[in-house]
Amino acid sequence: MCDEQSRVPEDDRNSAVSGSCPRFGRRSFLRSVAGGVAGTVAVGALGGGRAEAATPPPDNGHNEDDYNLEATRDGTRSVPFYGQYQAGIATPPQVAATFLAFDVTAANRGELTQLFRTLTARAAVLTAGGAPPAVPNGAPPSDDRLLGPTVLPDDLTVTVAVGASLFDGRYGLGPRKPAQLETMRAFAHDNLDPAISDGDLLVQLCASHRDTVGHAMLDLLAHTAGGMRIRWRLDGFRFPPRPVGIPRDWMGFKDGIANPDTTNATEMNHEVWVQPGAPEPAWTAGGTYQVVRIIRMFLDKWDQVPVEDQERIFGRRKVSGAPMYATSPDASDTLPTLYTNDPQGLLTPLNCHIRLANPQTPEAAATSAILRRSFQYDRSPDLAGNPDMGHAFCCFQQQLATYIAMQNRLENEMLVPYISPNGGGYFFALPGVTNARDYYARALLT
Ligand code: HEM
Repeated sequence: MCDEQSRVPEDDRNSAVSGSCPRFGRRSFLRSVAGGVAGTVAVGALGGGRAEAATPPPDNGHNEDDYNLEATRDGTRSVPFYGQYQAGIATPPQVAATFLAFDVTAANRGELTQLFRTLTARAAVLTAGGAPPAVPNGAPPSDDRLLGPTVLPDDLTVTVAVGASLFDGRYGLGPRKPAQLETMRAFAHDNLDPAISDGDLLVQLCASHRDTVGHAMLDLLAHTAGGMRIRWRLDGFRFPPRPVGIPRDWMGFKDGIANPDTTNATEMNHEVWVQPGAPEPAWTAGGTYQVVRIIRMFLDKWDQVPVEDQERIFGRRKVSGAPMYATSPDASDTLPTLYTNDPQGLLTPLNCHIRLANPQTPEAAATSAILRRSFQYDRSPDLAGNPDMGHAFCCFQQQLATYIAMQNRLENEMLVPYISPNGGGYFFALPGVTNARDYYARALLT
């Protein structure tokens, strides 16, 4: 049992987030920010030892060598927190991630606002890194020192998204719901478990080391106890490239090759960021729809499939990751996919994964581009003693309808017998926090 539980009032103990050891009692998320402590003072204190904000990690797809920079290894690089867009979306995927879905327990709109302020203050502190504030003798520590004497920024990104359920009657937000936000409904082959589906909030934590993600999670839980409760959680990771290029998934294929260019503002404005104007409410500009799908893979079954058939299921070469027309094992995974000379799908089958996801036809042009930012997961063994490994599928898009149309096209893809989507949800990733006076969801709440 946690030492500090003996110090929190009865009411606080009952509402402590399960699995966390609260450094602060229930409603501390109100006190800390209302009193102006956790936000500004803590940021300032940590700011003293903060590493210089450096450039975000280079694309860990095609510049894998660069990714193993000293700064990544020693955890001193930070991804800027403030900006028009939240970090953790266009940021090249880090190797460690945790998706945390929450039920919000804040009693009213005022408490909800304080919850977002607290989340903002902690995210600013954690992503900048620095020396934790000193505390008087005998007081609980201000940091668990999991990352050592100084909190390392370690490319940490904290990305906050809201689910459709936050817009029910509780906080009077109904009229401000993003136009396309809805609760995820099961597709034909889904086997959704409500215990790992949906949520009022989604917090995506990503960093270059697993301890940084765990540290951030414990810190956020401690500071927001009483304001929100974990509904489900999924840890994800990305493998190193083998041997070069985009990392592989559990099925042994390079995964994440064809994606919008996150450094191209025109492309991002077209495909990912919500733009100002109807039918979206004004506050959503700069946000994006986020889809998370927990997709289990049946790898024993998959491993029985001859490689040539696996390649036809996905529509890419297994060893190289190149399109089907490239037969050399050394072919580049960056070669373009082209179907104009293959209208019947003799080379790249019409019902393979990539051709259904993005058929390159005029009819599907408007619903073929999403930004995938997925991870692998391992929750083995399941209750029956079997492996439970798969894809923490995550994607961002300007319109939720794009994802839904794509998933509908994939309904009867050849991959279906080897996967089982079990959970996840639809969310709206908030616009960025622009400066130290701003906070998550400010424009939604005011
Ligand atoms: C277990 C589930 C999944 C696995 C193992 C998987 C794997 C892959 C692989 C290996 C590729 C080819 C390489 C690449 O371009 O990244 C790919 C491409 C792609 N996947 Fe998936 N995927 C899964 C689920 C999904 C879902 C749920 C969607 C969206 C509804 C999706 C959308 C796409 C798209 C858009 C592409 C690129 C198509 C292109 O433009 O060539 N995938 N996926």
